[in-house]
Amino acid sequence: LAENRVSITVVGASGDLAKKKIFPALFALYYEDYLPQHFTVFGYARSKLTDEELRHTISKTLTCRIDKRENCSDKMEQFLQRCFYHSGQYGSEVDFCELDNKLKEKEDGKIANRLFYLSIPPNIFVDVVRGASRSASSPNGWTRFIVEKPFGRDSESSSELTRCLKMYLTEEQIFRIDHYLGKELVENLSVLRFANLVFEPLWSRNYIRNVQLIFSEDFGTEGRGGYFDHYGIIRDIMQNHLLQILALFAMETPVSLDGEDIRNEKVKVLRSMRVLKLDDVVVGQYKGHTKGGKSFPAYTDDTTVPKGSLTPTFAAAALFIDNARWDGVPFLMKAGKALHRRGAEIRVQFRHVPGNLYKRKFGTDLDKATNELVIRVQPNEAIYLKINNKVPGLSMRLDSSNLNLLYSERYPREIPDAYERLLLDAIEGERRLFIRSDELDAAWAIFSPLLRELEEKKVVPELYPYGSRGPVGAHYLAAKYNVRWGDLIDSS
Ligand code: BG6
Repeated sequence: LAENRVSITVVGASGDLAKKKIFPALFALYYEDYLPQHFTVFGYARSKLTDEELRHTISKTLTCRIDKRENCSDKMEQFLQRCFYHSGQYGSEVDFCELDNKLKEKEDGKIANRLFYLSIPPNIFVDVVRGASRSASSPNGWTRFIVEKPFGRDSESSSELTRCLKMYLTEEQIFRIDHYLGKELVENLSVLRFANLVFEPLWSRNYIRNVQLIFSEDFGTEGRGGYFDHYGIIRDIMQNHLLQILALFAMETPVSLDGEDIRNEKVKVLRSMRVLKLDDVVVGQYKGHTKGGKSFPAYTDDTTVPKGSLTPTFAAAALFIDNARWDGVPFLMKAGKALHRRGAEIRVQFRHVPGNLYKRKFGTDLDKATNELVIRVQPNEAIYLKINNKVPGLSMRLDSSNLNLLYSERYPREIPDAYERLLLDAIEGERRLFIRSDELDAAWAIFSPLLRELEEKKVVPELYPYGSRGPVGAHYLAAKYNVRWGDLIDSS
């Protein structure tokens, strides 16, 4: 209702995520008129800041979309006037009580909904949830908490975190973010599949040979090693971002677009997955490298990383879904830092054409002639389908060409950041892009035994040079399942 208030408290307001992503996303929503008419934003952290100081810090991070520069500075000023700061300890109920008083003042006795964004390290999640839920819950509207990974390090610690959160919150109040679900092309996956007759009938072991989920970054941990070393690439990227994409890709048709219906299907597919085995995994770590006179550090050169660390910065894995639709189809994941380029994509390789009339034209390398659907999540968002085509002319020469939907050409407006979509959904109570507790349990169940084994056996990662394509082991793993990795290069 127009009269209702929404108070958004960013706990951990001075942190990097808050500055880089959350405040800019809130501003973008405000600029586009997506925020409710009566809203306030509170920053909450330990440092002693005034409202003005918070506004000053935030103001440096706000930007306007390229196509929306009009009134930008007026809008920024209006937005900043709605931002306030409260200094408090994370575990103190008294400090949250004081926040409650300030919120009440702004809410003016109206129906007030409250959203808390926990942009803080996981070891204080529960303290904050205890304090905020007991002392600063909305008296007459909803109270929701957004939390972001890491949600534990394995099945046990994740269940323990959920158990503690549920001492103070109901499942409906918990919004677990996986920011990849807010990315435009990941959201579009279901549209592509379920709104186009040409894809859904092909979406099974009958036509698909393998699916590849690839994440690649062209920079290392660069100072974030302290966090990263405790988790490693499998927990940082695979168990969440890539697995979420896989679940959306492979799930059965949901009963409706309702969040619970979609999440039910995702849980089913995750629970049908085989537990990952060490034999189906390759781990790597980047080493120092000099190229063109410039030297790039090794992972263990990062001063925040313990010497001799065995934490993987790269991993490749072959996963399987043991259900009727996907029986025997390898889902290959690859994720790495300090590789030769930045990108995230889904590649679907189709089977060979049976009894191909043009077989002789392709020679023996039939792999080059299979159709491939590529969904490029970032950068340069695109969807393209590789098809075989006759090269125009009098001779019969075949060529592999792309039917190409390049977003920057077709939709020249800037694509919203994932956090905008997710914050808006949390405010609107749309849960489909957030991870439910049973979904999280199912995700950990696939990876936990492997993660334990890697640590217990102290598996030594294969070293790869900073800026390279990663360890060759990844190619052997793919070859074991008769797969050749698609190359990010062909998609630029
Ligand atoms: C985060 C990881 O979840 O995702 C980071 O913790 C990673 O290590 C980041 O760099 C990548 O996100 P994006 O949106 O930049 O691809």
